[in-house]
Amino acid sequence: MPFQFDYEEAYSRNIGWVTEQEQQILRGKTIAIAGMGGVGGVHLLTLARLGVGAFHIADLDTFEIANFNRQAGATMSTLGRPKVEVLAEMARDINPEINITSFPLGIDEHNLSEFFTGVDLYVDGLDFFAFAVRQATFAACANLGIPAITAAPLGMGTALLNFLPGKMTFEEYFCLNDLPEEEKALRFMLGLAPARLQFGYLVDPTRVDLAQHRGPSTIMACQLCAGVAATEALKILLNRNKVLAAPHGLHFDAYRNKMARTWRPGGNNNPMQRLALSIAKRHLSKLANPAPTRSLEVMESAPGSVIEKILDLARWAPSGDNTQPWRFEIVNDHQLVVHGFDTRDHCVYDLDGHPSQIAIGALLETIYIAASSHGLRTTIQRRVNLPETTPTFDVSFEPDPQIQADPLIPFITKRSVQRRPMRTRPLTPEEKHTLEAAVGDAFRVLWLESLGSKWRTARLMFANAKLRLTMREAYEVHRSVIQWNARFSEDKVPDQAIGLDPLTTRLMGWVMQSWKRVEFFNTFLAGTLAPRIQLDLIPGIACAAHFVLMAEHEPQSIDDYVETGRTLQRFWLTAAKLGLQLQPEMTPLIFSRYVRKGLKFTGNDSIKNKAGQLAAELNDLLSPSPASRATFMGRVGAAPVAQARSLRLSIARLMTRG
Ligand SMILES: Cc1cc2nc3c(=O)[nH]c(=O)nc-3n(C[C@H](O)[C@H](O)[C@H](O)COP(=O)(O)O)c2cc1C
Repeated sequence: MPFQFDYEEAYSRNIGWVTEQEQQILRGKTIAIAGMGGVGGVHLLTLARLGVGAFHIADLDTFEIANFNRQAGATMSTLGRPKVEVLAEMARDINPEINITSFPLGIDEHNLSEFFTGVDLYVDGLDFFAFAVRQATFAACANLGIPAITAAPLGMGTALLNFLPGKMTFEEYFCLNDLPEEEKALRFMLGLAPARLQFGYLVDPTRVDLAQHRGPSTIMACQLCAGVAATEALKILLNRNKVLAAPHGLHFDAYRNKMARTWRPGGNNNPMQRLALSIAKRHLSKLANPAPTRSLEVMESAPGSVIEKILDLARWAPSGDNTQPWRFEIVNDHQLVVHGFDTRDHCVYDLDGHPSQIAIGALLETIYIAASSHGLRTTIQRRVNLPETTPTFDVSFEPDPQIQADPLIPFITKRSVQRRPMRTRPLTPEEKHTLEAAVGDAFRVLWLESLGSKWRTARLMFANAKLRLTMREAYEVHRSVIQWNARFSEDKVPDQAIGLDPLTTRLMGWVMQSWKRVEFFNTFLAGTLAPRIQLDLIPGIACAAHFVLMAEHEPQSIDDYVETGRTLQRFWLTAAKLGLQLQPEMTPLIFSRYVRKGLKFTGNDSIKNKAGQLAAELNDLLSPSPASRATFMGRVGAAPVAQARSLRLSIARLMTRG
């Protein structure tokens, strides 16, 4: 017995997500789709399975074997047959009652009005490079008040834009006008996917050839386009929910497991887009022959989004013991959240979180500086009412023609702590002036540069180091932050960057394997002496000067410490630009603050008493400036760049899963 088609039963499994009444509304709708290739074909079949009752479809092509990887209608049995004919048959096989009007010669100005007659919605299925006809179809939709959807298959994802009646038009968004085809291709690509999620995983860029109108494509992208576009179609046709309209868009990339909502007011006229266009064109013009064929290749090979590029630089900001107390969440292509944290639960140097907050400040300043290379102004807002231990910042970027690339940018990755002896050549007045200018009005630089002051500072460091090296609480920290037998470390301090000679380094590595060994060495073999001479006493003299960043007021809030970090980073980068090296010397400030605030930091009473004496010595050293306003301390001088250094976690590891 032949099977009978029954519309209600065929679409009964839609019911639940749509009502029976809505299903009937879909049955009464007509959708126009131009192009029956990779996306157009699967759009038709998807919308047919949604139960839409009528279609106008257009395509002048026939199936060929190169269509097999992605086109729903391309099979051995359909080779050489017209695409509209094959797809109409397939759709009728799903719903024999479907009403399909075919345009087998494609669409042009003569049949455009017929193509759109009685149509409720247009879904773009045209070839990427069919700019003239695409402009004409979208213009007709705008004139006729027909909503239009374009879902572009990009890499292994889809970028969606809806053009709704009365809202921004296709032409207003893409600004293609009568530009040369090459320029149209660039504008179309950048406008479709401002988040550019697909960039970075194209493995063979030679397969992109603009001149030949050829580029790689995947079935995954086509299927994603159909799912996303049909969902938008459902919402538009049933008047459901909120529908995004250009200049808002959506980009989902399955390969990168990422979704970005995009917003480009002004479309391709948006300063951010103009910037991206000019960068793409600059790359293009730099290329040797045959330049016109390679623009997509250049763009595809650019790594990640602008925010990722900014973060890729900013992650080189310094942090105590290279803890990198930050994780990133990219919200969209102009917003980012910095999730800060501190290490107070396990680090005796961070009991009040201030060193971590200073490091976060250094990171935020570096973001600000790095963004300037893209002509972006950065706005940073700390979220209030969160626990002190998780300082969180909303960071947004906005194009600003006034913003010039900061001259400190090249030094972001070059700056590195130098813990070994530096030259004793004093700083020149010019160098001091430049460094003082870098800290702005809210801070003052206190210099300790005479031989007498350097000697007093070196002795203070030497004495503070004894606290560090004999305190059980600090031992646990040192053990966890030093990477032994290493010149580089991604998330720790490599032992070769500490500043000890190789023999003492090896001895320390052995001693530090247990607290018992440390105690034995300290008690019977004056174990702290050699490291303290090498790490504190000699470097304390072997430098141009010690410096202290004095704040106008005693820092109180997280914001004050963040500001210190921002200032420190400008100071440190400026030193790097002057060819000077720097080492923070934070223990005297940290322990004396603990003493001043009555914070319990050790169970050892004799260490506690000694810390009290050293706090008084620091007061004397800085007098008449109050030690309570000293926010950062270090040594600076001419020296070679450190040969061993901390590296950073990769961007991927610094991303939260948000
Ligand atoms: C808030 C803060 C405190 C620091 N304290 C010290 C310190 O007391 N002694 C030291 O040798 N380095 C100190 N550093 C330097 C870091 O250990 C160093 O910047 C980090 O390991 C990354 O290495 P890099 O500067 O070579 O990139 C400090 C850095 C920051 C941001």
